[in-house]
Amino acid sequence: MKKDVGLKALLCLSALLIVSSMNAADVFPKTTLELTSDSGEALGSITPGTKLTKLDEKNDKSFVMVSGWSAYGEESVIFQNIGQRVVYALLKPNAFKDIEKGQSKTDDYDAEWIPSQIKGWVKNSDLASNQEDVWKEGAKLFGERCGSCHQAHPSDEFTVNQWPNIIKAMKDRAGLLPEQQWQLTKYMQAHAKDAK
Ligand code: HEC
Repeated sequence: MKKDVGLKALLCLSALLIVSSMNAADVFPKTTLELTSDSGEALGSITPGTKLTKLDEKNDKSFVMVSGWSAYGEESVIFQNIGQRVVYALLKPNAFKDIEKGQSKTDDYDAEWIPSQIKGWVKNSDLASNQEDVWKEGAKLFGERCGSCHQAHPSDEFTVNQWPNIIKAMKDRAGLLPEQQWQLTKYMQAHAKDAK
């Protein structure tokens, strides 16, 4: 009896350790980051706040994996979820051969999506271990730039797929630089009406 309890406790503890070590491996770009191959070739860019799995570290760089979904015939963009256009990575054609693909699925609108992942190196200095730290920049931009002409429209007023076009329409009015446009878009999408 006692032995059994001890064993259960041990199993619980090891499960906890596995879960916490998995969490520890998640990292999030603070800004748009360049992803490079082993030989230093540019593979594409990763947007702010994207969940990356850290697999290795060497000098000032981390070897990471980004995994998500690409729309059929649109290999250059990896999105967070099926049917939701939260951009995780924008890949260059020379990176296409390095994409690992899974079994495709169709969404509610009969569009085909392919699980896609790619690995590469990013700079450590631009990584946060907590996604909330990344969203602070978007929240700040929203507070400073989006409520002067009209009442600020809260993030949960619109869907994940509506926000990119709204920000695009407002970017000149709000004086957003391209990097700020990414920061704000990713922040609003992460807190949108239908955010997953
Ligand atoms: C310089 C003034 C100005 C600033 C700054 C501004 N907006 Fe607007 N916004 C407008 C105007 C004018 C409209 C009315 C619709 C139109 O003309 O596009 C509007 C409309 C909107 C709408 C309504 C769209 C709809 O379909 O109901 C949203 C949402 C919105 N803005 C979001 C934002 C966000 C987010 C920011 C910050 C990045 C922002 N706005 C900054 C002027 C501004």
